[in-house]
Parts: sequence; structure tokens; C-alpha cells
Amino acid sequence: MNVIKVKDQVAGGQAAFKLIKQAIEAGAQVLGLATGSSPETLYQEMVNSDLDFSNMLAFNLDEYVGLAADNEQSYHYFMQEHLFKFKPFKATYIENGLAKDLEAEVERYEQLLQAHTIDVQILGIGVNGHIGFNEPGTSFDSLTHVTNLTESTIQANKRFFNDISEVPTKALTMGIKSILQSKQIILLAYGKAKAPIIKRLLSGEVTEEVPASALQKHPNVTIIIDEEAASLL
Ligand code: F6R
Repeated sequence: MNVIKVKDQVAGGQAAFKLIKQAIEAGAQVLGLATGSSPETLYQEMVNSDLDFSNMLAFNLDEYVGLAADNEQSYHYFMQEHLFKFKPFKATYIENGLAKDLEAEVERYEQLLQAHTIDVQILGIGVNGHIGFNEPGTSFDSLTHVTNLTESTIQANKRFFNDISEVPTKALTMGIKSILQSKQIILLAYGKAKAPIIKRLLSGEVTEEVPASALQKHPNVTIIIDEEAASLL
């Protein structure tokens, strides 16, 4: 895994943008995107750039079950506000958290992914090592699926909600195997809280107890971390 250490999250966004720009110049047509705080500065760089994404496809990692696209906490809404309303894509895909039949929805989404290989996948990482919403214990062979969020993830995400009781407990997420099918992966992590998991990711064993450790098996992963996230290395 390549590691790029940067001063702060702004520099991290610039470094990630540079990699995406190179990939697009080399022919990338399909981006895999994440939500959360970590990619925000990258999306800012993309919005401020003169890059044209209107011939590209975007697939998001995950969505909460039970939130409509216009709910401010939904990942549909996040992507609209941070990127898509400024930079149109040819098509954007996110799992439908309101689907009546969630199993049919994850099957539909996985089929879309199988039909369009992701050229560059952006990831954040949870303090428990989750990528997407693949919580510890998720099979490395997992495809898109419905998942129960762990207490640690619910606690980490409550900052976006008025009350912890409003945080959804289920989500739809690309699986570990779906993520590893991307040609290139860029993982972003900033801040002190991420330092232990970054250390574990880079030097710990590959185990389903640390979902991100599956990335050690992928040939093209770049980890962009700030000084705080790198502080235990
Ligand atoms: C979001 C996602 C999550 C986050 C992770 C880190 O689409 O898939 O895995 O990337 O929870 O979140 P932040 O960046 O807010 O620390």
C-alpha cells in the first residue's frame, strides 16, 4: 500500500484530487465515492476544478435504510450537496434506502457494479476498521448487502443527528469483495482518533475482524493520512 502523509485535511483533498485527475486523464470513467467527513475536502477540490465529469459514472458505497433522498442525513443528500449539484455526472448511483424489498435492492445494485468496473474507489475508514458499512466480522467475500450498524458506528455518526435515537441502525453497503474489485483505491483518514486503526491497517494481520485489512490484498491502494492519523506509525 502506498502511503501519502500530508499536513492536514486540505492537503489530503489536494493529494487525492491529483490522483483522481491522473486516473481520469488515463481513461477512468467510473468513480466510487464515499460520504462522511474525510472526502469533503476532495469534493471541494473537484467542485473548484475545471474537470468535466459529465461523461462519467459515480457509484456510492452505502446508504442508510429508512432515509429518503431528501432527508438531510441521507447519503443521497450529502452527495448532492457536496458534489453532484455542482458537478453533473452522466449517471450517479446510490443504494435506495427506502426500497420495499431490501434484498432485491442489494441484488440490483451489485448487478450494476458487476456491469461497470469502478476505476477509482474513494474510501474513509471507521475507528473500528469498517470500510463502507462493512463492520468487523463481515466476510471478505461479501457483495452488496444489508447490514446492522455496530454501537461504535452509531456513536460515531450521532454527531450528524439531533439525537442518537434518530441514527439509523441498518444500512445498505457495497461488500468487501465489491470494493476490492475496483482497479484503484484511495483511502482517506484524518485526525487522532484514526491513528490506532491506521497503525493496525498498515502493520496488523489481515483479518475479517478489521475489514479494512482486506485492502492489504489489493494491488493498487493509496492511503492519504494527516500528521495526527500518522502519529502512531
Ligand atoms: C461513508 C462510509 C464510512 C465512512 C467512515 C469514516 O460512505 O462508507 O465507511 O467512510 O465511517 O467516516 P468519516 O470520514 O466521517 O470519519
